[in-house]
Amino acid sequence: MSIESQEDIIALMKIGRIVGLTLRHMLDQVRPGMSTAELDAIGEAFLKSHGARSAPILAYNFPGYTCISVNDEAAHGIPGERVIQPGDLVNVDVSAELNGYWADNGASMVVPPISPEKQRLCDFAKKALEVAIDTARAGQPIHAVGRAIENVARSGHYSTIRDLPGHGVGRHIHEKPSIPNYFERRANQKLTEGLVITLEPFLSTGKGRIKTDPDGWTLRTTDHGLVAQYEHTVIITNDRPILVTAI
Ligand code: CO
Ligand code: CO
Repeated sequence: MSIESQEDIIALMKIGRIVGLTLRHMLDQVRPGMSTAELDAIGEAFLKSHGARSAPILAYNFPGYTCISVNDEAAHGIPGERVIQPGDLVNVDVSAELNGYWADNGASMVVPPISPEKQRLCDFAKKALEVAIDTARAGQPIHAVGRAIENVARSGHYSTIRDLPGHGVGRHIHEKPSIPNYFERRANQKLTEGLVITLEPFLSTGKGRIKTDPDGWTLRTTDHGLVAQYEHTVIITNDRPILVTAI
C-alpha cells in the first residue's frame, strides 16, 4: 500500500507496534528444551491479547501463528514438536493484521552457547538490514536496496537467498512490489514517498538455494547452509524510512 492519510499511518503503526512487541516477547522467551510449538503459543497469546490476527493463518491457512525456522531452515518453518537445542540458530517471523492493516517483522538469534560462526552470520544479516534501511528512500530504484544488501553479504562471504525478497505490505501481507535481496537490474521502479514495504535480507553460509520440505511449507537450504534474516516493515519517505515494526 501507499500511505494516503493520517489514519493510514496511525493504523499501520498500531499493528506494527503489536507485531514488534510480539517478536521481542517471543525472542525473550526462547530457551533450550522448549518446543517451537510452545514458542508459537507464546506468540499466539500475545497477538490475541492485542486483538491482532496471525497473518500466515489469515492469508495462507499456515499451520502456526508465527513462522519459526531453525538452522538451515530459511523461512516458513512450522511450529511443532521440534525442541530448541543449545546453540541453535532460531528465526522468528511475526506478521499480523488489525483492522485491515498488516505488518511483518522478523529476527534471528543464537541460543547459548553462542558459536562465533552463527553470531557472525546474524551480525552481517542485521548489518544488511541496516544498510537496506539507509538506502531505501523515495527516488531510489528498488535495485539499489538489493545492491546494498548484496554488498554487505559479499563482504562477509555470505550469499543472499534470491527466492526470498522483501515485499509490499500494509493492506495485505504480500503486496507489490517485490524487493529483491540482490542487484536485479530489472527492478528499476523507483521507491515513492508513502510506499509501505518490508526490508528483509536473508543471508546464508551456503549458496543460498532453497527448496520446500515435504511438509509443503518449510523452506530449507539445499546445501544445509545456515540462514539468518532480519526484517522490518517500513514507510518510504524522502529521508530515512519510518520503521513501522521497531519498538
Ligand atoms: Co516476515
Ligand atoms: Co516479509
